[in-house]
Amino acid sequence: MMILNASGCLDALTAPTIARSLDAFVTKTVTPLPREGNAPPRIAEVEHGMLNSIGLANPGIDRFLSHTLPRLGELGVQVWVSVGGFATADYADLCDRLDDRPEVAVIELNVSCPNVDDVPASVGEIVGAARAATRKPLYTKLSPATADIAEVALAAQKAGTDGLSMVNTILGLALDGRTLRPCLSRGAGGLSGPALKPIALAAVYACYAATGLPIVGMGGITSGRDALEFVAAGAPSVALGTILFSDPTAPGRIRVELANEIGQLGVGELDNVIGLAHAKPPGPSEISSRTAAVSG
Ligand SMILES: Cc1cc2nc3c(=O)[nH]c(=O)nc-3n(C[C@H](O)[C@H](O)[C@H](O)COP(=O)(O)O)c2cc1C
Repeated sequence: MMILNASGCLDALTAPTIARSLDAFVTKTVTPLPREGNAPPRIAEVEHGMLNSIGLANPGIDRFLSHTLPRLGELGVQVWVSVGGFATADYADLCDRLDDRPEVAVIELNVSCPNVDDVPASVGEIVGAARAATRKPLYTKLSPATADIAEVALAAQKAGTDGLSMVNTILGLALDGRTLRPCLSRGAGGLSGPALKPIALAAVYACYAATGLPIVGMGGITSGRDALEFVAAGAPSVALGTILFSDPTAPGRIRVELANEIGQLGVGELDNVIGLAHAKPPGPSEISSRTAAVSG
């Protein structure tokens, strides 16, 4: 079981102690060129979560490789690098440039960013190109905003992904109480936090059943109980996002709470919980046929 941060929700260089409380640190998504992101305001609070429209603000791959990555490598925590692009070739190029860097443990392909068609064919194409460009383990980060997420996960698996990270945010809108104009300058933004949890759980549940791939589950995790539910749905590892803004001590707290939850369940090790939600209880038909056998 690993506890990671969700991409974009922790800056390890300004908060190294929090980063070291994780089993691995995931970077903000890096793109080929530097990006300033969208105009402010780009964060809004909503019921049971928040909206963001950061717009992949990052220094770009050149500066990331020369300045950021060497410093991340000195933190003493495993580093996962999240990459994003606007064409398949961008992903291949980013992976190629990360391939020989010893600081990088895993590359996370953010295929859920704007201007990249979120359709199975495109995800398969991106993963295939990334796979050909690097020997590093690849995790593909999926969007929940798709008709059939298991189909997308299968396309990523077929193209050679080693694991799945899920889910990214889903579009939401908040209106200003007085003006009734959107709170975010861009209009809608990505919804994260507790409101996302049932959607994320459904996605993990479906993709575990379809692929059996290792999954990093995320979406509204704030407690050990939440983490336990993701493990039961099929994610042996979890990532913390929005909760880190209000409770930077969440990784340690959730680890303790999770251990307590496992103890109370009386199932032994955490490994015994992975995918437990898929275990079939006796269904109504079995019960009725048993009753029929008894009465007949
Ligand atoms: C402020 C903010 C910035 C984010 N930036 C990224 C990003 O750069 N790349 C990415 O893949 N996901 C990004 N995400 C999505 C998170 O990694 C995560 O998938 C999502 O927030 C759901 O988890 P949570 O409900 O625990 O926050 C961002 C989320 C937030 C709130």
